[in-house]
Amino acid sequence: MARPRAFIFDLDGVLTDTAQLHFIAWRELAEGLGLPLDAAFNEELKGVSRTESLERILALGTRRYTPAEKVAMAERKNAAYVRLLERMTPADLLPGALAALQAARAAGCRVALASASRNAATVLGHLGIADAFDHVVDANLVTHSKPDPEVFLAAAEALAVDPADCVGIEDAVAGVRAVRAAGMFALGVGDARVLSEADQVIADLHGFIPSNYLRVGSRLRWVSSP
Ligand code: BG6
Ligand code: MG
Repeated sequence: MARPRAFIFDLDGVLTDTAQLHFIAWRELAEGLGLPLDAAFNEELKGVSRTESLERILALGTRRYTPAEKVAMAERKNAAYVRLLERMTPADLLPGALAALQAARAAGCRVALASASRNAATVLGHLGIADAFDHVVDANLVTHSKPDPEVFLAAAEALAVDPADCVGIEDAVAGVRAVRAAGMFALGVGDARVLSEADQVIADLHGFIPSNYLRVGSRLRWVSSP
């Protein structure tokens, strides 16, 4: 029986809660277009790429926009989001996040980031955790968005680790699907009812114990007392 060789963390919603900042920026744009955006709808945007998020928001209305108009809208939203990020500090790390990154390293495992955001490097800088990763893959480096497994597979490849020896850590349904499609153990962080497709769900990263994963046969499993 073997231990996992790598832990691959999602960023938004796992290490820091940017959902509210994305919401504020999207709501500003949507209000300008006369479209209502509530917190429940924002839940559906978690883990979803910038372009796809915009498409879902525009689908709330009936007007059609040209590709150039959509690019301009996405840029406007991103400028507002990046302004909001300026206030982010290490205090914005989610409970247990720093300890989880340190525990993964201390367990002798490789650590990577697999993010759907093009702003991942900026966010890591504000949080002061850029050095916590052996490799970072973000939306600038991949073609297909989650739930496609590309971002997780690219991280495993960069670490030279078999996907079956990786645990992918996600807060969003699209992200859990991406982890599973990559052939990794899917650890969900958040609400077990929402993340029912994950192999295991913990409420927050205080529940993350790297030594509790063992490879049995072709798959990693979670064992309560290794
Ligand atoms: C994901 C977020 O991590 O990144 C989504 O959960 C966001 O809400 C997506 O839309 C893209 O982020 P960005 O920073 O490239 O606009
Ligand atoms: Mg996320």
